Amino acid sequence: MMNPSSAIVPLAGSRTMAAAVVTRYGDPGVVVLRDVPRPRPGPHDLLIRVRATTVSSGDARVRARRVPEGMGLPLRLVLGWNAPRAAVLGTECAGVVEAVGGAVTRFRPGDPVVAFPGASMGAHAAFVRIREDGAVARKPDHLGWPEAAALLFGGTTAFHYLHRAARVKAGERVLVLGASGAVGTAAVQLARLAGAEVTAVCSGANETLALSLGASRVIDYQRQDFTRAGSSWEVVMDCVGATDYARCRPVLAPGGRLLRVVCGLAGQLGSLFQGRRSGHRVIAGVARERTEDVRHLLDLARRGALRPVIDAVLPFEQIAAAHARVDSGRKRGSIVLTLR
Ligand SMILES: NC(=O)c1ccc[n+]([C@@H]2O[C@H](COP(=O)([O-])OP(=O)(O)OC[C@H]3O[C@@H](n4cnc5c(N)ncnc54)[C@H](OP(=O)(O)O)[C@@H]3O)[C@@H](O)[C@H]2O)c1
Repeated sequence: MMNPSSAIVPLAGSRTMAAAVVTRYGDPGVVVLRDVPRPRPGPHDLLIRVRATTVSSGDARVRARRVPEGMGLPLRLVLGWNAPRAAVLGTECAGVVEAVGGAVTRFRPGDPVVAFPGASMGAHAAFVRIREDGAVARKPDHLGWPEAAALLFGGTTAFHYLHRAARVKAGERVLVLGASGAVGTAAVQLARLAGAEVTAVCSGANETLALSLGASRVIDYQRQDFTRAGSSWEVVMDCVGATDYARCRPVLAPGGRLLRVVCGLAGQLGSLFQGRRSGHRVIAGVARERTEDVRHLLDLARRGALRPVIDAVLPFEQIAAAHARVDSGRKRGSIVLTLR
């Protein structure tokens, strides 16, 4: 095992690399730094030297086996019984192409890139392998490594729900519940970019943030219940798991969609039929990962239309502290880890 206080400096040509390994499900202490075999790029792969990555709510959920109600057994069957089968978590990163396979044509060593391994994970390491035609694209020049690494976990989820599922349109009223998290900060921006009028639900401390991202109105959830605010919305996006269709039905406008980003098994089954008689739709489930969405989000970031929100930047060695901050449920945007 590596000395956790030592800096992560990969040795050129080494066959191993530093990685954060989850040895079993549990609290942040189950994440340990270890040397593991370095991935080798196949003919169509890039090997990326990671400069920054995030600890997302998804990483913390897997590490802790903390899942919405009724999802415990399915998660264990899919991810592993006593510990995650993919012991190195990490859904997103920014870094430099270290090596490319023989058939790679669009990238070369030295290129700065952003990658989204997504559910395949593996970004909590000094190197990540990804296919050239996978979720990887050139880093927006004006963003530093931490900013570039913090775009895609929240961005792809928000894009999936708002655009692919709800097909949000200009002029619609969108309420984002949990507007200060990684998904919520992206959702506020993407809804506003689509021409929607955005209401953000967050704590008073995050009001300025939500307004700066494009919300036109903020409801402080600690002071007011949005279902009693006397308003209605075409889209209600719950990024917290704090509501359900029964509560939202009165505030959903005709044709309204409730997006349940966080939802237990019963809610997911209910979403198949709830709302039909009222002309509403309830949408739940895992956001699909699409390479074209990743490229689109990075193009938006390149144009300055989508900006990452960062709660804290920590050295990779402090990954357990990063998990603890995510576990608090209080982070604003993303927690970023940097590697040398
Ligand atoms: N379905 C999918 O495919 C999918 C994909 C990605 C993520 N998710 C899930 O989506 C959820 C959101 O992810 P995330 O990364 O955005 O989480 P996050 O960054 O950890 O969200 C934390 C934020 O939520 C706010 N918050 C907490 N309780 C709230 C409440 N009752 N009302 C309004 N805001 C509240 C907190 O603000 P305060 O401190 O001010 O309260 C904090 O800023 C997670 O549960 C994650 O697992 C699902």
